[in-house]
Amino acid sequence: MPHSQILGTGVYLPPRVVTNFDVMQMMETTNEFIVERTGVRRRRHADPELSASDLAAAACQSAVADAGLSMDQIDLVIMNTITPDHADPGCAFFLQPKLGLSGIPVIDIKQQCAGLIYGLSIADHFVRAGTYRHVLVVCAEMLSKRIDGSYDGRNIAILLGDGAGAAVVGPAKDGQEGILSTILHADGSGAKALVTAAPGSGLGRKEHITKEDIDSGRVHFRMDGKAVFENGVARMSEAVFESLAANGLTMEQIDVLIPHQANLRMLEAIVKQTGFPPQKVYVNVEEYGNIASASLPIALDEARRKGMAKPGSLVLLVAFGSGFVWASALLRM
Ligand SMILES: CC(C)(COP(=O)(O)OP(=O)(O)OC[C@H]1O[C@@H](n2cnc3c(N)ncnc32)[C@H](O)[C@@H]1OP(=O)(O)O)[C@@H](O)C(=O)NCCC(=O)NCCS
Repeated sequence: MPHSQILGTGVYLPPRVVTNFDVMQMMETTNEFIVERTGVRRRRHADPELSASDLAAAACQSAVADAGLSMDQIDLVIMNTITPDHADPGCAFFLQPKLGLSGIPVIDIKQQCAGLIYGLSIADHFVRAGTYRHVLVVCAEMLSKRIDGSYDGRNIAILLGDGAGAAVVGPAKDGQEGILSTILHADGSGAKALVTAAPGSGLGRKEHITKEDIDSGRVHFRMDGKAVFENGVARMSEAVFESLAANGLTMEQIDVLIPHQANLRMLEAIVKQTGFPPQKVYVNVEEYGNIASASLPIALDEARRKGMAKPGSLVLLVAFGSGFVWASALLRM
């Protein structure tokens, strides 16, 4: 079966830069704490009138143009977000009309920070099977709308930024390799380590949401920072070795490692744990913070544009997110 390939990438990053000093106006924290514990110096926040599907649409337009295609050549859209336009239906349904693609199938996935790799894996299988020719995978997040500056929320709030990244997957050009492997994992026993409990049907009562959910902070992210940090480092490090073994490669043969941009300290710990040369690890978390699923496609697009992930390069993507979910994708660009 011929390979699939990433034919184009695109991003949307809102122009408004929010520094740690701006974050200090939103909650009790310090620039020193944020830099020392997370490495983040700046992030982008979009205008509140915008939604995840607006950011996604801009990234999709640019990815399709980068692939040298027109939008009407897209056969399927896969969207991942933890900040959908509305509770339901899925965010892809709000994105689709903005792309002028009514009628084609759309799939919403909810794989948190591993959304790009899960999306690429689904796209790869559809393209190799010949079911769809061009699949648009898009990850978009409006995390500025999920900032809770309370004592219990600030450990994650300091990390969060907005943005979107998209990739077009299609058949690899003659003789080229493209997506070499995608390896997916999940372990729901960690689901409560980073969770937004309400609204939901799992609250042991009749109401989907109550005023008390809002007052108690159950509608916000709650993170066991240490559990997320330790599992993130361990699972992304394992994912590096698993992908190398599955493809019969050594670390030296990889041109660029692009991990999910969770937190600079996590990326440093992954470098230490794997022995991966730090100069071959793509890092932009200082500039954009953690944009959940959008971090990885934005980093991939930047690595391409800066010439680190050039045609023919071997690029290894690894991601980890709440769930827990983790995954790798090995790409020949
Ligand atoms: C966020 C992180 C830096 C917090 O560090 P931590 O040591 O786990 O934080 P804790 O929540 O246990 O709090 C430790 C102390 O720091 C304080 N603290 C937490 N967030 C703070 C903030 N934003 N500003 C100032 N102090 C803060 C806490 O109040 C606590 O102080 P106390 O001991 O006096 O009560 C760290 O857990 C981390 O990086 N985790 C991974 C996060 C991540 O990447 N998540 C995304 C995954 S995709």
